[in-house]
Amino acid sequence: MIYGIFSDPHSNLEGLEAALEECKRAGAEKLICCGDIVGYNADPDSCVDLVRELGVLCIRGNHERGLQDLEDGKLPPMNPFALEAIRFSFEKIGEKRREWLISLPNQLLVDDIFYVFHGSPRHPDEYIFDIMEAAHALKSMAHDYPPPGNRLCFIGHTHVCAAYAFDPEKMKVEGWEVAEDRTLRLKPGHHYMFNVGSCGQYRGGKPVSSVVFFDSERMTVSFRLLSYDVEKTQRKVLQSGLPPYLALRLGEGR
Ligand SMILES: [Fe+2]
Repeated sequence: MIYGIFSDPHSNLEGLEAALEECKRAGAEKLICCGDIVGYNADPDSCVDLVRELGVLCIRGNHERGLQDLEDGKLPPMNPFALEAIRFSFEKIGEKRREWLISLPNQLLVDDIFYVFHGSPRHPDEYIFDIMEAAHALKSMAHDYPPPGNRLCFIGHTHVCAAYAFDPEKMKVEGWEVAEDRTLRLKPGHHYMFNVGSCGQYRGGKPVSSVVFFDSERMTVSFRLLSYDVEKTQRKVLQSGLPPYLALRLGEGR
């Protein structure tokens, strides 16, 4: 089975469509989104409709929890730009889509093979940026989650593609950012955590949309960084009255 896994579409319809198109091309049979469908960009309603229409398995990210906060009359813990954008999403998606997003689970076990988290196995809001954080997260997954499936997970939240591996024989964790298309073969007995980046607001220094394919028969994980019509997304951000900084950062990939 080929799984197409992406994260953080953040209301960027063009970026999401690029990832989905690549999933189709790769023959992905199951689609998975690691959270943050809304926020930041101008098309939260179309992005929600598209993932639902295609039956994408979704979890919620901190931006979906932000919707819950707004619903409860609380201020989501976000920077001013993110806050303005989540308020925009809240209004634009309407009640039905909001209900669906808020009801999503915080994590998923897919086919008893792997887990999906937004930030990390330890906490949905944790950012995994370095080896130490990755080592704690991999340990938590192995100890706190029942087998099978607790040796492999896919995460998002940082908006940067990365791979982390634990070798139980050497008792060593390795990790690296993935900045270009790459296929990795998984070794038996090792534990892995892959950050699939973001298809809606990539922050690895390039204006791209990222998607990852896991082939459970070949035991390979392939990263794809895709170009898309960034200028169109930027124009929509500016036209909808969202902070211009959000358009700027899309073009710079940060
Ligand atoms: Fe995000």
